[in-house]
Amino acid sequence: MKVEDRPIGFFDSGVGGISVLKEAIDLLPKENFIYFGDSANAPYGTKTVDEVKDLTFKAVDFFMEKKIKALVVACNTATSAAIIDLRERYAKYMPIIGIEPALKPAVEYRRKGKILIMATPMTLAETKFNKLMNNYKNEAEIEPLPCPGLVELIERGEFEGEQVNSYLKDKVNTFGKDGIAAIVLGCTHYPFIKKELFKVIPRDVPVIDGSRGTAKQLKRQLTEYNILNKGNQKGSIEIYNSLNSDEIINLSRKLLGLMD
Ligand code: DGL
Repeated sequence: MKVEDRPIGFFDSGVGGISVLKEAIDLLPKENFIYFGDSANAPYGTKTVDEVKDLTFKAVDFFMEKKIKALVVACNTATSAAIIDLRERYAKYMPIIGIEPALKPAVEYRRKGKILIMATPMTLAETKFNKLMNNYKNEAEIEPLPCPGLVELIERGEFEGEQVNSYLKDKVNTFGKDGIAAIVLGCTHYPFIKKELFKVIPRDVPVIDGSRGTAKQLKRQLTEYNILNKGNQKGSIEIYNSLNSDEIINLSRKLLGLMD
């Protein structure tokens, strides 16, 4: 098979990376995609860095067997824990794209108040994010907001309702009505609770995630490596999950908009 025709691998600790896959399909409709969610081991954000590295490398073994031409680590947590080691081992075979909290566009709004970075405890504790935050420390007031427990709700398919609402309310209430400049969703699971988030923050607060930017970066890399799919048909989408249950595959497909 020609390299261009090979699939692109998308990886996350669970169903979160579907939010990034969605953007990639929209931007690169002719590509073939393979999604692997490691829901059996979710959440990653409260594990140790070494545990997350191990799990990420195991996932890449799965993708290598599938002969992917590019890898998207559609997980902020796995990116912060493993992207350097991953690139060291695999960059000679294929482009490896990661994701990090989209701080730049949030700063560029130049709104009054604090920029809240909602992410997992690991993403916010790791060097990668702290370097990023340092770049903007003179331009904006940035408030890391670890959200342990939120991924678990989303993995259960709870995107709306009382529990998510009160979780989010507890997180944002202390900042007051005018205290929030913008919110960055620094975990790929969180775009799925955006609707509920807007019930507890003012409507005009920009809520930003990195999924479109990551899809664009994927396109740039495929172009640079000259491995864009040249076919004129719509590509295929395969979804796998370490839980291997119909329930989780159905939830993934539902999030992707393939079924109701
Ligand atoms: N979607 C992952 C991220 O972007 C969630 C990590 C987790 O499983 O805790 O960070």
